[in-house]
This record gives sequence, structure tokens and C-alpha cells, in this order.
Amino acid sequence: MAKNSDFAGALLAWFDVHGRHDLPWQRDPTAYHVWVSEIMLQQTQVATVIPYYARFMARFPDVAALAAAPLDEVLHHWSGLGYYARARNLKRAAERIAAAHAGALPGTLEALAALPGIGRSTAGAILSLAFGQRVPILDGNVKRVLTRHRGLAGWVGNAAVQRALWTLADALMPAARPGDYTQAIMDLGATLCVRRNPECGRCPVAAACVARIEHRQHEIPAPRPKRAVPVKRTRFLVAERPDGALLLERRPPAGIWGGLWSFPEFENDAAASLAKLGLGAALVTRELAPISHTFTHFRLEIAPVHVSVDGTSATLMDSADRVWYKVTTPRAIGLAAPVARLIESLRDATQRRGTKVTSA
Ligand code: ADE
Repeated sequence: MAKNSDFAGALLAWFDVHGRHDLPWQRDPTAYHVWVSEIMLQQTQVATVIPYYARFMARFPDVAALAAAPLDEVLHHWSGLGYYARARNLKRAAERIAAAHAGALPGTLEALAALPGIGRSTAGAILSLAFGQRVPILDGNVKRVLTRHRGLAGWVGNAAVQRALWTLADALMPAARPGDYTQAIMDLGATLCVRRNPECGRCPVAAACVARIEHRQHEIPAPRPKRAVPVKRTRFLVAERPDGALLLERRPPAGIWGGLWSFPEFENDAAASLAKLGLGAALVTRELAPISHTFTHFRLEIAPVHVSVDGTSATLMDSADRVWYKVTTPRAIGLAAPVARLIESLRDATQRRGTKVTSA
């Protein structure tokens, strides 16, 4: 289609003038050089990679050298680049290439992608940059360029979006100059079509870019969708004795806050809950400010109710699963996080009232 060749043509013309042509791995782009550089560049900036790449190539100039080297020495040369699984995979893959491919990186997508640490996009980079094959890549930069250009609103981690992007990446790739095209689209993503404030005014493919035309560059590519967290609700009965002690219960071992201490929970009826606990009637009841607590899979909205209970409730004794917790001389027990927060705010409020009284 005319449009696809327009895209590649404009991109390549831009690349010839504005692309990166002097990166160390471009000087002699053998499969080994491209492979090592691509692995280093997966999570690391070009400027950081350059000196590491030079030292690595001086010590491990080819697959055979890397395959024969002790892993420790490979890791030593990686030290500071981070993500050491990359180095371990590189070493393991080198051993396999030495054993099964006579020391030469294989020239097919299937064989490359079967090696440790080489995915479909890295394989595409090696095949296009080193072997001159028309095989596309789809790294983070390219995903950003393509989703913006076509106005694809879905999250790039979504399987259907990924499939659409691979199809598009393949359709756009020209038969001529596949290596330059790969470098060009990576360079466009890394230098102009950047995440924030892309430089559309200088972009060679801006004319047909849906995100630019619709002013949606800031929202494409879309971030990972946030999971909708279910909300659960509960109520805490914060029973306080005349001496200021608060009634806590030990929670069952399984479930949220297992084995920790908490205020008794109830559904609707504070009076019924008091009776069930064996406490006397409430003297005063007041609603406290709600608390929100987030767990991995849901959010808990807690509505605490404070009840002042009379002295007869003091006959309810401490037991293995129940304690009158003295805020001023607390026992060393494990409190559920929102319980600790609530106790702290109650103590602060008491202290503020106390200060007022004494200073009056
Ligand atoms: N990032 C990943 N591969 C790259 C390459 N070949 N040149 C520049 N940046 C890159």
C-alpha cells in the first residue's frame, strides 16, 4: 500500500540525516555485536552502555570467548549495568551457540528466539541489523511510535493490541534497507517520539500521525489499566471503659490481619454487638471518622463507632482472645494497621482535650 511505503520512505530519509550512525555496535554490525548491544540496551540507556560494550568486546570478542569464559568474569563485566539475568542468559546462549551452531549466531527467527534471553523483538533486531533480513522489531520505542501513528488506544500489554502491532510492524517494514529501517524507527522513538513532549514538529511521519492530528500524544500509548478494586465495608465497635481502656479482640488465625488484635467488628446494630460481647448498654455513642485500608485485592472501608460503657462492663475480664487495652500503658501486642492508627488518633484527641482542660 502506498501509505506503508510513504512511512518507510519518509523515515529512512530522516534517518539518513538525523539518525544515529556512530554507535560502537554499528561500526561492524556482526550478529554477535548486535546481539550483545541489544541485550545491554534492553534496560539501559545508550550513553551508559557504550563503555560497558567496549570493555565487554575487548574481553569477549566473539561467541567462543564468551562461551569459554567463567560466568563470574562475565558478571564482573556486567557489574553496574543491573538486571544480571541478562548476563547469565547471554553466557548460556553463547554456550549453546558454540555447541549447536558452531559458534555462529543462527540466521532464523525460530532458532534465535529459542536461545535464552532472546525474544521475538531482539531476534528481529539481530536479523535486520546484522543479517539484512526483513524481520520487524517491536520494542518499547517502536510500540510508542506505532500506537501514536495509528491512534491505537489500547494498552500495549494487551494480547490483541500486541498482535495488531506485530502485524503493523511487519506491514510497514520495507524490503529495501531493513537494517537502516530498524535503526531508524528505534531512533525516532528514542529521540523525537519520546514519551513526554514529543517533537512532532521535526517528525518525518507526523503528517499522517493520528495522535498528532487528534492532539492525543499524551494519552497514547495508554498506561497499564488499573484494576478496579472491589470495596468491602465493615464497622468497628470501639468500646471504652471509664478508665479509658479499649476493648480489643484477637482475630482468627486465617483471613485478614490473622492473629492480630482488632476492635470487634459488627454489621448494623451496635447495641446488639455490645450485648453479644457481654457488655452493658452504651452511655454515649458517637460515629468516628471512617478509615480506608487497601489490601492487594480489595479496599476495606471501616466505619468506627465509639461507645462509652459503664463501669459494670469492667467485670468482663481479659482472656486469651480479649483484652482491655490501656492506651497510656499499652501491652505489647500486634495491632492491625488501621487499629493502631485509630488508637493513635483517639489518644491524640484525648491528649488535646486534656491539655485544654489543664490550661483552662
Ligand atoms: N536501543 C535498542 N537498540 C538500540 C540500537 N541499536 N541503537 C540505539 N538504541 C537502541
